[in-house]
Amino acid sequence: MNIGIIGSGELGTCLASKLVALGHNISIANSRGPASIQEFAEGIGAKAVTVEDAMKNQVIIVSIPQKNIPDLPKNLFNKLPREVVVIDTGNYYPMLRDGVLPTLERSGIDSLWVQEELRFPIVKAFNAIYASSLNDLGKPAGDQERIAIPVSGDDPTAKEIVSKLIQDLGFDAFDVGDISQSWKHQTGSPMYCRDLSREELQKRSDAMGTDWSAMRDVITTRRRDDEILMKVAYLKGLRDSK
Ligand SMILES: NC(=O)c1ccc[n+]([C@@H]2O[C@H](COP(=O)([O-])OP(=O)(O)OC[C@H]3O[C@@H](n4cnc5c(N)ncnc54)[C@H](OP(=O)(O)O)[C@@H]3O)[C@@H](O)[C@H]2O)c1
Repeated sequence: MNIGIIGSGELGTCLASKLVALGHNISIANSRGPASIQEFAEGIGAKAVTVEDAMKNQVIIVSIPQKNIPDLPKNLFNKLPREVVVIDTGNYYPMLRDGVLPTLERSGIDSLWVQEELRFPIVKAFNAIYASSLNDLGKPAGDQERIAIPVSGDDPTAKEIVSKLIQDLGFDAFDVGDISQSWKHQTGSPMYCRDLSREELQKRSDAMGTDWSAMRDVITTRRRDDEILMKVAYLKGLRDSK
């Protein structure tokens, strides 16, 4: 497939390398322009492009921090044909990285907000697996240790295409539901970045139920606690690197 990736950070570059290895044609863009990623792209057999050129593909992966979503060029998605599949890998970390985004906080559902910002239906995927796990933990279908990646979105065909990519990368795809249910695999949820099997994701999904208003406090409190832990780990790392 022809796949455009917007974002050349830890996750965008990992996805680019893995997808090139599967035989896909990858174009990758960032905020600084193609020259800044030319060497990386050439090294893996991808193409460094502008954000606008990354949009000229069958699948577009948006892999940038949540706070930068509003910085994408206005109307970028306006004329995109509806059959194009747009994947959002993003996570919301208000304390650590993104600051409070008041329009996101209204619903509290990260990818619902992204979908509204882009004004295009999205599939949420690859947000709940670390780049390191994506890089290292792929296994053939049927392997006892194969883990799963949660996926949500409103368009079943788009979700099928994304699920196939996930399977080809060496993971099971776990369909969480439509985008209004995507809170189940956002930061703070028990499905987030735990490297779990499909069966375990199913159990955790069932345990959460489907009522966001009943789960919102639990999940946002856990996200806040995780952010504090990450901050402390970072500061300890600084101290230890003296
Ligand atoms: N890292 C992981 O393991 C992981 C796993 C799952 C999900 N995620 C999520 O995926 C997203 C990306 O994560 P990451 O770790 O790859 O981030 P990162 O390493 O900080 O890289 C962010 C990338 O976004 C690009 N970017 C920012 N604003 C942009 C804009 N307006 N237009 C085009 N590109 C822009 C940056 O380009 P410049 O450098 O040119 O500014 C950079 O290449 C985040 O939401 C993160 O929470 C990350």
